[in-house]
Amino acid sequence: MSKQFDVVVIGAGPGGYIAAIRAAQLGFSVACVDAWENEKGGPAPGGTCTNVGCIPSKALLQSSEHYEHAGHAFKDHGIDVSGLSLNLPQMIKRKDTVVKQNNDGILFLFKKNKVTFFHGRAAFAGAATADGYPLVISAPANETINAKQVIIATGSNARALPGADFDEKLILSNTGALAIGEVPAKLGVIGAGVIGLEMGSVWRRLGSEVTVLEGLPTFLGAVDEQIAKEANKLFTKQGLSINLGCKINKVTKGDSNVTVEYDNAKGEANTAVFDKLIVSIGRTPNTNGLGADKVGLALDERGFVAVDDDCKTNLPGVWAVGDVVRGPMLAHKAEEEGVAVAERIAGQHGHTNFNTIPWVIYTSPEIAWVGRTEQQLKADGVAYKAGTFPFLANGRARALGDTSGMVKFLADATTDEILGVHIIGPMASELIAEAVVAMEFKASAEDIARICHAHPSLSEATKEAALAIDKRTLNF
Ligand code: FAD
Ligand code: NAI
Repeated sequence: MSKQFDVVVIGAGPGGYIAAIRAAQLGFSVACVDAWENEKGGPAPGGTCTNVGCIPSKALLQSSEHYEHAGHAFKDHGIDVSGLSLNLPQMIKRKDTVVKQNNDGILFLFKKNKVTFFHGRAAFAGAATADGYPLVISAPANETINAKQVIIATGSNARALPGADFDEKLILSNTGALAIGEVPAKLGVIGAGVIGLEMGSVWRRLGSEVTVLEGLPTFLGAVDEQIAKEANKLFTKQGLSINLGCKINKVTKGDSNVTVEYDNAKGEANTAVFDKLIVSIGRTPNTNGLGADKVGLALDERGFVAVDDDCKTNLPGVWAVGDVVRGPMLAHKAEEEGVAVAERIAGQHGHTNFNTIPWVIYTSPEIAWVGRTEQQLKADGVAYKAGTFPFLANGRARALGDTSGMVKFLADATTDEILGVHIIGPMASELIAEAVVAMEFKASAEDIARICHAHPSLSEATKEAALAIDKRTLNF
């Protein structure tokens, strides 16, 4: 007889494994099925985020930043480093160790929470019966199980440029970009989005000459314009060659290089030859092999699993969360949806607030934001007030030797409610949390301006930006 579960989660990325743990906490019998394999063919739960996304990219960003600081920034602190050299195999090995720690951590959490884990690919085998949905799981698990409730969390894959399939040797997706064996002298990046800028930064810091070719005429269109302009200036100064408005015409692979033919923003024909090419032009939802057609699971026009605001699909008892559904492709968004769905299955009022999902780009300086940008407020016809404070005027930033960037507050002109906070600067990824909390509690800029912030800390720049709304900065 097939094993029977209250809840089966397909996919153990941040959306899936968190949903499984929350469902188990709520008293359900839970299984989680994940197909990801490590190099030995064993399970590697954690999905894109853990294996080829958030975690390994941040590990390499940290290592490459240390390398760059040792080369330049330490000197100013009075630390002379001689004989500096790069041990790339060790850097990659460390990244792999960090990944494995996270894989193992998830397997431990499954055990701790009594979630049954199956290693293999799950597919709907047919319509629901009295026992629930029958699901077949491929090798190595080789099982058929039944689920009263199914949570689909199958994630996304890198989108390839037409005519330039990923080979992960010369034309790289995020997977190959995180495992280059030798620093490429010339690295091309197509797409100046989050991956392009993060991975471009890693390899530039390690010595590559990096050329980024972006299709749109604007840089980081989703980012507040003032912040994006500052970012473009800083990244260009660091040595990233950022080319906007490029139309890629042809990508040709040679034996050891890649030629990209493109028109620049002026429409002039260009040819560039790279040792490696990263293509980071967005991601597509992963519904392959799920058996969606076997059960009549509805997909939307872009191939995402179609869901309502509560992550319900068209099938009773089938839910979907994370990258495989609409909304930002972020690990923390996937996690919030996973928790909310588990709670809804338990009859609770799970909740995801899409207006307060923070975004972070882990470049140096980091870029982080929550809420609406100034250009969005203008387009929405909202009367707003803006206040900015530069890190240059923050004592802690000066002590750190990292004074680039600013904090920017946007608040409603009448009520003073915070509508958006935008940061470019040191530790922006951590600083943004205060803004998220404030917006969740519908705080005003004045609330932040009147809260005591530790001195000296970067967070004082947040308070000062709130004070700047009423032109009352104290240190600038
Ligand atoms: P995934 O993490 O993609 O997990 C899906 C899992 O399902 C995979 O393990 C897959 O093998 C498995 N699966 C698929 N189909 C089946 C099946 N039929 N049966 C069994 N298993 C199946 N987000 C952030 O918030 N912060 C970051 O810093 C960040 N950095 C990133 C860096 C890079 C380079 C990339 C590529 C992405 C990054 N992201 C980041 C995005 C983040 O990785 C995704 O938003 C997140 O992983 C989505 O989680 P998920 O659970 O929906 O899917
Ligand atoms: P992206 O959507 O961030 O950026 C893609 C870029 O490629 C855009 O600027 C787009 O205009 C450009 N583009 C698209 N087609 C093109 C073409 N044919 N020629 C030239 N340019 C083209 O996607 P990216 O960087 O691939 O990342 C995917 C997603 O992964 C992100 O949107 C984000 O959700 C997630 N991610 C999150 C991170 C974080 O939170 N720090 C880090 C990395 C990825």
